[in-house]
Amino acid sequence: MSSEVAIRATHLGKAFPVYARPHHRLLQMLSPGPANRWYREFHALRDVSFEIPRGQTVGIVGRNGSGKSTLLQVLCGTLSGSAGEVEVHGRVAALLELGAGFSPEFTGRENVYLNATVLGLSRREVDERFDSIAAFADIGEFIEQPVKTYSSGMYVRLAFAVAIHVEPDILVVDEALAVGDEAFQRKCFARIEQIRQAGATVLFVSHSAGTVIELCDRALLLDGGELVADGAPKQVIGLYQKLLYAPAGRLAELREQARANPVAALAGQESARDAAPAAEAAADAGPEPWFDESLRPASTLAYAAQGASIEDPHLTTPDGRRVNVLVAGREYVYRYQVRFEQAAAGVRCGMMMRTVTGIEACGAVTSTPEQALPVVEAGARLAVAFRFRCLLAAGVYFLNAGVLARLGEGEAYLDRRIDVAMFRVLPDAGRLDTGLVGMDVVPALARALDEGVAS
Ligand SMILES: Nc1ncnc2c1ncn2[C@@H]1O[C@H](COP(=O)(O)OP(=O)(O)OP(=O)(O)O)[C@@H](O)[C@H]1O
Ligand SMILES: [Mg+2]
Repeated sequence: MSSEVAIRATHLGKAFPVYARPHHRLLQMLSPGPANRWYREFHALRDVSFEIPRGQTVGIVGRNGSGKSTLLQVLCGTLSGSAGEVEVHGRVAALLELGAGFSPEFTGRENVYLNATVLGLSRREVDERFDSIAAFADIGEFIEQPVKTYSSGMYVRLAFAVAIHVEPDILVVDEALAVGDEAFQRKCFARIEQIRQAGATVLFVSHSAGTVIELCDRALLLDGGELVADGAPKQVIGLYQKLLYAPAGRLAELREQARANPVAALAGQESARDAAPAAEAAADAGPEPWFDESLRPASTLAYAAQGASIEDPHLTTPDGRRVNVLVAGREYVYRYQVRFEQAAAGVRCGMMMRTVTGIEACGAVTSTPEQALPVVEAGARLAVAFRFRCLLAAGVYFLNAGVLARLGEGEAYLDRRIDVAMFRVLPDAGRLDTGLVGMDVVPALARALDEGVAS
């Protein structure tokens, strides 16, 4: 049975000594022993227990400083725990945070050999795979340069290329992939998928809700060094996002809630199947959209206005209630007002919704240029509203607003605001479509009749 378990952590803890002043570290070295303590202990991990069966893909999520990297390092043995036990069965290839793994003075080629042999390949095996590793990393001539000359992206490319070529039983990835460019990330995720298909256990830390939901069978949520949720990715991500956007005063309460209502632990495939209907039932009871004070964009940008100004951009439900945490599939209205200090001609207004990475998810204008409002007099105020059904995937989105008018031959913005408001779409456990936007796809699945055999 235990060979079916890839990783088991039992009451795992990790405490770091923290010195109030730099010279206290020295004093501690000079006077060891329990009587003289020049430090206090900081618990980066506390009483963490879980079991990961072979072949499972597990996402680890949590706020910055919650203990994710510490946990991975203890599991991989690059850090030792200070309490509890860790059991790991199988060959582990790890991509930990930058800095771990390669020797800076050696070239890329030398590091490939060092690294792959540490991971258990023979020299001949590395010889056989070297070209393929170099091709995957795709860093050209740099493979012959010392690793200290690499950009962080090149470093990650090479480290990942090695990790996937040693045929690991367990692949551990700590967010490192976020450093690579998008094309490389796609390539890596495709490769992780292959490694999964081959039956390996995959453990990775990610801040991307979409990636965890798409890729993982299970997710663990760490907060303040404690494991506060363990279960189906959509549910765990839901809790994580609540913690992420919670006002400081409500954190402790939310954490308690998460712990008091643990998402069913998915120890194996059987319990995974059992847990799914329960999760869906919970989603049916359904959250209602609400307003979260703390969801305020930090990147708002206003272009110099020319005679008009956009005021109070916000989202409401159709009956006028202000919201910014949305339940997918329902209708909302994006509203703002425009105050005209000067008269304007040929007026129309627009909006845009963008993802965190800047992808334009959806935009709209109030009319074509031909049908623009012919005249708006000075002192007037316009109320602008864009009603929409929210078909976006779970995640955070930013809103733009703009008012256009005819100026001479062309059109120009009288006022334009970027990232004036933000909103979050809650994960929907029942969602069958994937990708950024749902298009009301109607899936069908039936047993096809085998016509060739008939008659
Ligand atoms: N060597 C160390 N000495 C003291 N404290 C440490 C040490 N390493 C980590 N910590 C602390 O332990 C806590 C957990 O750190 P860790 O790096 O595991 O967080 P994380 O969840 O990976 O965060 P992030 O999302 O920012 O990567 C942090 O508060 C960090 O300051
Ligand atoms: Mg980390």
